[in-house]
Amino acid sequence: MRPQWFKKVLVATAISSLCFSSAAMAEKTLKMAYALSKDSHYGAGAKAFEESIGKSTNGEIKIEQFANSALGGEREVIEGLQIGTVDAAILSTGATLNFVPQTGVFDIPFLFRDLDHARKVLDGDIGNKLLAEFPKRGLVALAWGEQGFRHLTNSKHAVKTPADLKGLKIRTTENPIHITAFKELGMLPTPMAWPEVQTALQQGTIDGQENPLSVIVSAKLSSQQKHLSLTGHVYGPAVIVVSPMVYDSMSDEDKAKLKEAALAAAQGMRDFVDNVEKTGLETLTKEGMEITQDVDRAEFAKIVHNVYPEFHKKFSKELIESIQNTK
Ligand code: PAF
Repeated sequence: MRPQWFKKVLVATAISSLCFSSAAMAEKTLKMAYALSKDSHYGAGAKAFEESIGKSTNGEIKIEQFANSALGGEREVIEGLQIGTVDAAILSTGATLNFVPQTGVFDIPFLFRDLDHARKVLDGDIGNKLLAEFPKRGLVALAWGEQGFRHLTNSKHAVKTPADLKGLKIRTTENPIHITAFKELGMLPTPMAWPEVQTALQQGTIDGQENPLSVIVSAKLSSQQKHLSLTGHVYGPAVIVVSPMVYDSMSDEDKAKLKEAALAAAQGMRDFVDNVEKTGLETLTKEGMEITQDVDRAEFAKIVHNVYPEFHKKFSKELIESIQNTK
């Protein structure tokens, strides 16, 4: 016959192990991938996402961050989201448009006037309709984040007018919209996945690349590129995407918390972009870059507008004009 105290210990142990195992069962860690460092706008977005979901679920949903393309380039990450080997990601539309073609409309050069214009479109009906396209391609998109306006860097010479681009071998994303416009401008576009870019710049197999200040600063491209031209040729959105395997297994309550976390991530990225827009040029100058500010953007835009009829055919003139007319 066991003593009374022994029975109490057994019951207490059983209760506590039950609580522990149910807490452990409820706990979930989501793998979140992105292409840049933790110090980038994507890192800022992932941090805000992690903090928000951690807080709203009392730590039941945790985020494990895989920065610097640790789970592969953006294309592989999207495939991972579709099959459930990656749970969440922050991505550029340069990659998503190969899966959700309609998202490419935001990649049309000289479409947005400024950051406010872009944010208004992305946060409004047009942005929401495009988020709703993702489930048709086996992906769940929760919110539009941001990279900022893309500019050109290269190792050869200052670029002020489209004529200065002649013969420059410029890495582009695997983005047919950008490529069409860049060809029209006289560049030699070389599509390449981001993880290969810095080696290609170092080895001189490409002369330059184009990305927003958020990327140029956080990826320290000043160590490989001498010239930065403020072409602002195209706005770069980002999008927070989760795997349907994760999303569909969640309660409505957790889905709402995930959406809230994605909106926090989007805000984190926009705050980063606002800040780098103010401080980035000074940082890059100190790091030795030569910055061309007086770029003839009107001439760049005029040339790119020659290919707008192609974009009208691809995405509908009405959609493009309703983006342009958003005030
Ligand atoms: O240039 C790109 O491929 C993208 O802008 C990057 C740097 C991977 C961020 O999404």
